Amino acid sequence: MLLLHSEKQQDLNTVIHIIVPDQSLDKLGFTKDEIGFVERMREEEDLVHLTKVDKNIFLYYIDPDWDRFHRLEMLRKAGFRLSKTINRIKIEELELVNHTNDLESGLAMAEGMALSNYQFLKYFSDKEKRKNHLKKISLVDSKLRPEELEVLSAVIKSVYKARDLVNEPVSYLTASRLAEEIESMGKEAGFSTEVFHKKKIESLRMGGLLAVNKGSIDPPTFTIMEWKPLNPVNTKPYVLVGKGVVYDTGGLSLKPTRNSMDYMKSDMSGAAAVAGAMHALASTNIPIHIIALVPATDNRPDGNAYTPGDVITMYNGKTVEVLNTDAEGRMILADALSYASSYDPELIIEFSTLTGSAVAAVGHLGMVGMTNVPEEQFNELKEAGNKVFERIAEFPFWDEYSEMLKSNIADLKNIGGRQAGAITAGKFLEHFTDHPFIHLDIAGCAFIEKEKSYQGQGGTGVGVRLVYEYFRNIASGGK
Ligand code: BES
Ligand code: ZN
Ligand code: ZN
Repeated sequence: MLLLHSEKQQDLNTVIHIIVPDQSLDKLGFTKDEIGFVERMREEEDLVHLTKVDKNIFLYYIDPDWDRFHRLEMLRKAGFRLSKTINRIKIEELELVNHTNDLESGLAMAEGMALSNYQFLKYFSDKEKRKNHLKKISLVDSKLRPEELEVLSAVIKSVYKARDLVNEPVSYLTASRLAEEIESMGKEAGFSTEVFHKKKIESLRMGGLLAVNKGSIDPPTFTIMEWKPLNPVNTKPYVLVGKGVVYDTGGLSLKPTRNSMDYMKSDMSGAAAVAGAMHALASTNIPIHIIALVPATDNRPDGNAYTPGDVITMYNGKTVEVLNTDAEGRMILADALSYASSYDPELIIEFSTLTGSAVAAVGHLGMVGMTNVPEEQFNELKEAGNKVFERIAEFPFWDEYSEMLKSNIADLKNIGGRQAGAITAGKFLEHFTDHPFIHLDIAGCAFIEKEKSYQGQGGTGVGVRLVYEYFRNIASGGK
């Protein structure tokens, strides 16, 4: 992974300057001609590239009218453009000099570059040839404390881990392998893990997870991660839950639309988000007690697969009439949410690639969120999302939507009909917990087919930065 550090290197040939428009260029050591060139270029461009023999100088102009979150995002995006150019001209090391008064600007550009530098090359036979050239960024900023860069590096590393998990196909990443990967992330970062295998899941009667797994030849897993620091700021733990469907064919209600199965290896992105977040939280020693749960299986048609019409008794004893086996995420998540009750959590935050309806509503630009917690509490999470630009579009969570889940023969049915699909899915989940609950549907933003910006191509690792930012604020606010 790209190395970020804060020591000033001797005479690097590639330097990026972040500046504000009224700043004088004199102290940057430019000639009169160069200053003239920059002045002309910046009328058209926010990013100016100066080349002198073996030197590459870039200037990025911040618009003082941008508000804080917009500025940070513009810097990350500029970081993406820069990383493209820098890898194209095969540069390994560069200096990033932040001339502005705020520390965040330099960090945001470094973050954008580092996130853009991610690659998933495992399955190429010519990986070496394809590797990015950029290896090291020295961030020069007198306001910077080395710890801040360490935290940023740790979070980026965790995003990389989450993306790796999402990008792995099911031929490698079965439910058991996912559990093993999470165990090794735990060892590396310092959180503990416990994995329930099929026998244990059967003895616990996790009916939802077992039902979805019936069509699979691979056993299910249920992974518990725990980060319990010495003096946590909270008394009740926070619980994260992530959907771990390692592949979703739809089951017997086979996915009907052309190409809709192509990227269904990414249906465990919720699991990747919570595992990545735990990795970041533990490796930076965040003083908060947090647990994360990942129910995992693939969803396939088979002789023994669960069927439309089946009635399933779930972990908490409620019964569900299955009317579509492609609504499998809520079946396995329901068991995990009921299981979470045993911790008497302060709050449950659940991530899942749950519905096509969420994709239709917001596309890849954000996630859909619903909750029964007080507005101020949800606003803290939304604000964290705005800052890291993993944004949450809130959907209504009115009780009336529950009417659509009434079954003629069981407590609930697993689909709500044609309307409000993302909401009825969230409402279904709400039936399985009595604790404060936030549901985040990341179906649109977890996987991007074509590279658009620093989120990369394939798994985006969305959720890791959001969760980290949220808890970092709680830790510093002492809540
Ligand atoms: N994994 C899918 C949702 C999904 C769709 C994720 C597109 C990413 C991209 C989920 O299991 C699913 O199939 N949901 C169904 C539910 C329906 C049958 C009620 C959907 O949204 O179509
Ligand atoms: Zn499905
Ligand atoms: Zn699914």
